[in-house]
Amino acid sequence: MALPPGFLDELRNRTSIAQVAGRKVVWDARKSNQGKGDLWAPCPFHQEKTASFHVDDRKGYYYCFGCHAKGDAIGFVRETENVGFMEAVEILAREAGMTMPAPDPVAAQKADRLSELADVMEQAVQFFRLQLNTGPAVAARDYLAGRGLNDGALERWEIGFAPEGWQNLWDHLRGKGVDEDMILACGLAKPSNSGKKPYDTFRNRIMFPIRNPRGRAIAFGGRAMDPNDNAKYLNSPETELFDKGRNLYNFGPARAASGKGAPLVVAEGYMDVIALAEHGFEATVAPLGTAVTEDQLQLLWRISPEPIVALDGDRAGMQAAMRLIDLALPMLGPERSLRFCLMPEGKDPDDVLRSSGAGAMREMLDASLPLVELLWRRETEGQVFDSPERKAALDRRLQTALDRIPDAGLKGHFNQALRDKKWEAFRKPSTPRTVKPGRGRFDAAPGTPRAETKGSFLVAGDASTDERLQEAVVLATLVAHPILIERFESALERMETSLDAHSRVLSALLAGVGKERVEIEQLAGPDALETLYQPRHVHIAPGLREDHDSDVAEKCVAEGLAKLAAARGARRDVEDAMDEITGLVDEGLTWRLGQAAAARHDAGKPDEANPDDYEIAPNGVKLSRSDRARSEAVFDAIRFDKSGGSGA
Ligand code: UTP
Ligand code: MN
Repeated sequence: MALPPGFLDELRNRTSIAQVAGRKVVWDARKSNQGKGDLWAPCPFHQEKTASFHVDDRKGYYYCFGCHAKGDAIGFVRETENVGFMEAVEILAREAGMTMPAPDPVAAQKADRLSELADVMEQAVQFFRLQLNTGPAVAARDYLAGRGLNDGALERWEIGFAPEGWQNLWDHLRGKGVDEDMILACGLAKPSNSGKKPYDTFRNRIMFPIRNPRGRAIAFGGRAMDPNDNAKYLNSPETELFDKGRNLYNFGPARAASGKGAPLVVAEGYMDVIALAEHGFEATVAPLGTAVTEDQLQLLWRISPEPIVALDGDRAGMQAAMRLIDLALPMLGPERSLRFCLMPEGKDPDDVLRSSGAGAMREMLDASLPLVELLWRRETEGQVFDSPERKAALDRRLQTALDRIPDAGLKGHFNQALRDKKWEAFRKPSTPRTVKPGRGRFDAAPGTPRAETKGSFLVAGDASTDERLQEAVVLATLVAHPILIERFESALERMETSLDAHSRVLSALLAGVGKERVEIEQLAGPDALETLYQPRHVHIAPGLREDHDSDVAEKCVAEGLAKLAAARGARRDVEDAMDEITGLVDEGLTWRLGQAAAARHDAGKPDEANPDDYEIAPNGVKLSRSDRARSEAVFDAIRFDKSGGSGA
C-alpha cells in the first residue's frame, strides 16, 4: 500500500515519541526535563539500572547511550511491538486519529467487508465471554479451574462458553441486528438442511477466540465439554477472515515477546499455548487444528530464525516432527531452521508444566535438538549398519534429504553435521591390527618382518613401511587437495592408519570436508603434518607436484586407497591363515596367501590379463599366470624363512 504524500510527515507531527516511548519506560524524573522534551529512562532495549535511554521529543528521536538503539516513533513501535513498517504506521495512525488511506476502491470495499465480519466476530467473543459467567456454564468454569486457569488467565485469553442449544448465538446476534448472511459468513452458524433456522456451529464448548496478528478476532477454537463428543476440538471453518493455514494461535503477542528475546515455541494446542504463556513462555504459538503449513513456517521465520517445535515424545509426535522436517527442508536457510523439543512420552507442554513446573519446561526447551539431529535419528534409529550396503543405503537417504536443501552454504553445514554423526557412529577406534599369537615360527615379532621377507610385497602383521608410505602419500595429497576429500569420504572412513600422526591427519580430513587447506592443516596440527611430510617419497608424489592438477591427485588417491585396502585385506588373510597353521603350510594356505598377495599387488590396476592366461586355484578362484608366479616367489621366501629359521 502506498501512503499519500505528506502522510508520514503528518503522522510524525501528530505523534509524540515521548508519549509512545513513555508507555514502555519509566522516565527518570531527576535526569529528565519534561518541559524541554528532554527525557531519560532505563533503556527498554537492554538490561540496565541507569537511565541511558534518551528521548528528544522535539526532534522525534530516541537514542540509547548504552546499546546505541536509535530511531523515531515508527522505529520504536517496530522494535517494541515487533511489527513491520506498515503495521507500525497503522498503530500510530490509529492513535493519532488518522485514517489509513485505502489503496483502491475494490480493496477498500473488501477492507470494509472484512471489518464488518470482524465486528460480528467481536460480538461473538463478547457473547461467549458473558456466557461463561452464567449458571449453565458452571461445569465449564469448574473444568477450567481444574485445569489451572484463574480469572486473570480467563480474561487474558478471553475464554468463553458456547451454551448447549441450537440458536443461542444466532438469536443473540440477530437481536442485535446482525444480518443472517454475515453470521453465516463468519462461520458462526450453519444453514439447516431442513429449511429451518440456521444453527450455531459451537454448542456446549469452551471457546478460545483466535485473533490475527493485528488483534482482529477471525475464528474460534471450541473444546467440547462432553467427553463423548466426537470432536474434542472444533475450529471455525475457513471464511473470508480465517485461513487456517496462514494464521497461528497467539501470533501477535508471541511476536511482541519474541521481539524482546523470548524463544519462539510452537506447541500443538490452544491449552499448551495458554499454559506456556502463563508460565512465562510468552512467545508461544500453535497451528489451528491442522499440521503446520508452509505459510505458517514463513510466519514463524519472520519473527525467529529457529523456532522450537514442542512435540509429544511419542510415535505420533515423532511422526509429526518428520512431516514437518520434510516440509521445511526445501525452505531452510541460514536464518530459517527449526529445533525440536521432545516432551516425555505422551505428555504435552501443558502436562509438563502442571506436573513438573516451569523449570522443567525450561530445561526441556534448552535441550531442544537441532533439525539435523532428528533427521539423523529418523534415518538411523533402531537400525544396524553392519554392511557396506546398509551404509550405502543410509548415505543415499541422507543425500536425498540434503539434496532438498536449496541453500548451498547451509547444505554444506548439514552435510558436515551428518558426516560428523556418521564418523561418531561408525568409526571404530583405529588400533593397529597386530598378529594374534600363533604357533611355530610365524609368531616372530609382529610388525617387524624378518630379513628374508622384508623386501617382498607380502608382509604379515602390522602395516609395512610401504603401507605407511602409501598412507602418507594419500593423506598428504588430500591435505593439498581438500576438494577431493568428499569424493573419497567413505573410503577414508574405513581407512586404517598405522601411525598416530596419520590418524590425526585423517580425522582432520574427515572433519574438514568443505574446508580450505589451511583449516585442515590447523585441524591436523603441525606435529602430525611434520610426520606426514617426513618421507621424501611424499614430496615427489605426483599428486603433490605443483604443476599437476587435482585430476592427477585424484588418481593418486584412488590408487593409493585401493592399494591400502588390498594390503589390509592381505594382512588379514595372512593373520587368519596364521591362526590356522599347525606346523605345516598346506596347499590351501599357500593359495590363499598367494591370492592375497596378488590382490595387493594388482590393486588399482585395471584387469588387463588375457582370460586364457588364467588358471583356477584349488579353492576355485581364478588367478592369472603372472599372479601365480609372483605369489610362488613370495611363498618360496616364506618357506625358506620357515625351514631356515626352524633349522628343520
Ligand atoms: P490434543 O488432542 O493434543 O489436545 O490436540 P490438547 O491440546 O492436549 O487439549 P487438551 O489438553 O486435551 O484440552 C491438540 C490440538 O489439535 C487440535 C486442536 O487445535 C488441539 O488444540 N485438535 C485436536 C482438533 O482440531 N480437533 C480435535 O478433535 C482434537
Ligand atoms: Mn493437553
